[in-house]
Order: sequence, then C-alpha cells, then structure tokens
Amino acid sequence: MKLINGTEIAAKVHAETAARIAALQSRGLTPGLAVVLVGDDPASRAYVRSKDKRAAELGIHSVKHELPATTTQAELLALIARLNADPAIHGILVQSPPPKHIDEAAIVLAIDPAKDVDGFHPVNVAKLALDDPTGFVPCTPLGCQRLLTEAGVKTSGARAVVLGRSMIVGKPMALLLMAKSTAERPGGDATVTIAHSRTRDLAAVTREADILIAAIGRPEFVTADMVRDGAVVIDVGINRVDDLIAPKGYRLVGDVDFQNVAPKCAAITPVPGGVGPMTIAMLMANTVTAAERTAA
Ligand code: GUN
Repeated sequence: MKLINGTEIAAKVHAETAARIAALQSRGLTPGLAVVLVGDDPASRAYVRSKDKRAAELGIHSVKHELPATTTQAELLALIARLNADPAIHGILVQSPPPKHIDEAAIVLAIDPAKDVDGFHPVNVAKLALDDPTGFVPCTPLGCQRLLTEAGVKTSGARAVVLGRSMIVGKPMALLLMAKSTAERPGGDATVTIAHSRTRDLAAVTREADILIAAIGRPEFVTADMVRDGAVVIDVGINRVDDLIAPKGYRLVGDVDFQNVAPKCAAITPVPGGVGPMTIAMLMANTVTAAERTAA
C-alpha cells in the first residue's frame, strides 16, 4: 500500500505557483485574493484562516473578510459588488456553507465569473461541462485529479466511482475524470459512475472501482467490504469526531475507515494530509490564473 502524500504534492504545486507569482510581479502585478466568511462555524473559520495564511506566504495580496452571522444578504451582495470592482482583487471566495438565511446560489451568481476562483458560478460550471478550458474548476476535485496524476495512477480506461454528488466535489469530480485527457489537464478518460446515499447495493457499485473518490461527508462511511483489492482510494472527507483524549476534544477522520481499508489498497490518501492541502494549493493556483488572465 502506497500512501499518497498530499502535503508533499501540495508543496510542489505551491512551488510552481510561487514561480508564476514571481513572473507576474516582475511585470508589476500582484495577484489578489479576497476570502469571505459569514458566521462562526469553527471548521469554516479554520479553513478560511489557512487559505488566508497560505496566500500571504506566497506573496498573494490576501484580504480576509470575517462577517458576523447576522450579516444580511444585501450586505453580502454589496461586499461582492465592491470586490468585483476592485482591480487589486483577482479572486473572490465565499466560504460555503453560509448561514441559513443567506441564499447561496444568489451570492455565487453575483461573483464575477472571471474572479470566481472556486469555480461555483454557473458560467464556470458550464465551461467545465463543455470542456472549455477558459473557466475555473472547483479546487477540491482539481486537487484530487492532481493527486492521482502525481501518484502515477492511470485514469485512462479505469473504472472510477465518485461517492457523493455535491456541486463542490462529486459532480465536478465526475466531469474531470470523464473528460478527454489533454496535455494541460491529464487524469481524464476514465469510465465514471456517480454513487450516493440512495444508490441501491452501494457496496457492489463501489467494489467495481479501480479508483474510488469518497466525498459523501460521513465519517468512516467507506468500509473494507466496499473496496476491491488493489483499488486507489482518494478520501475527500474531513469530519470532526469527538475524542475526549485528543488535545482539542476532537480528531479528524475521513469518509473512509482508513485502518481497515488501507491494507487492501494499491494507494490511498490519509486524513489529514491528503486532499485538504491540495484544495488550498489549487485555490492559490486558480487565483494566479485569474491574475494572469487580466495581464494577457
Ligand atoms: N466549503 C468546503 N469546500 C469549499 C471550497 O472549496 N470553497 C468554498 N468557498 N467553500 C467550501
């Protein structure tokens, strides 16, 4: 069993991104990223902090907006309008999920698609479906694809099962894996099945997978009987489970029962240290792409 080291692969992506930032800066352009958090969900707050911190470390002009849970839809839309109009900001990210009184679809629609480094705007969703490379692809599935290619996993002709159908991970992941591989974006040409919580005889479906992407958002949901010997497993889950002896009172587990699944796998990602660092790495890369496009 090979452990796919997301921290190491993310460092490689960051090195590429740093070189691109240096090239932009030599032309007098500093990429800018605005990260917006509404409310005080502890996990979202932690994600936003690490995005902001990594951006600053890379020399991206990073602006963090932490807004109270009482922020109105109109206030949030007004902030997005300001960020859309700000030439120092190339990428805008509103951390999902927002509080319940916020209409997330309306917020996403308000972001300038050219600054939508999350790839959530309908224009960017359509571009992914249309194989149009001028859009932005959501960071987590893009990071999963990069993990596969960096680990030397052959996707072409492989049976890939994506467990989960979210707009953030499952759907774009399936589109990426089924797309024709290109020089710019290898890691496609797979035969893709999307499975989810309502799939009949789920274990039989996931056992078909040469490549299993677990993105169902339930701690340790994927058990050993659901995985074929020699499969490659990418665990997208980041779940906090109570653990009284852990320093923070919780520990992080993935969507995969790692201890029992890992011995069966050809390769698997750990949690933490797998997909998580890659999401941030791809966000930084998308932000630099957004800046490069304004300079082209
Ligand atoms: N929530 C979970 N993943 C993401 C992500 O990639 N982007 C945003 N904006 N919110 C998220």
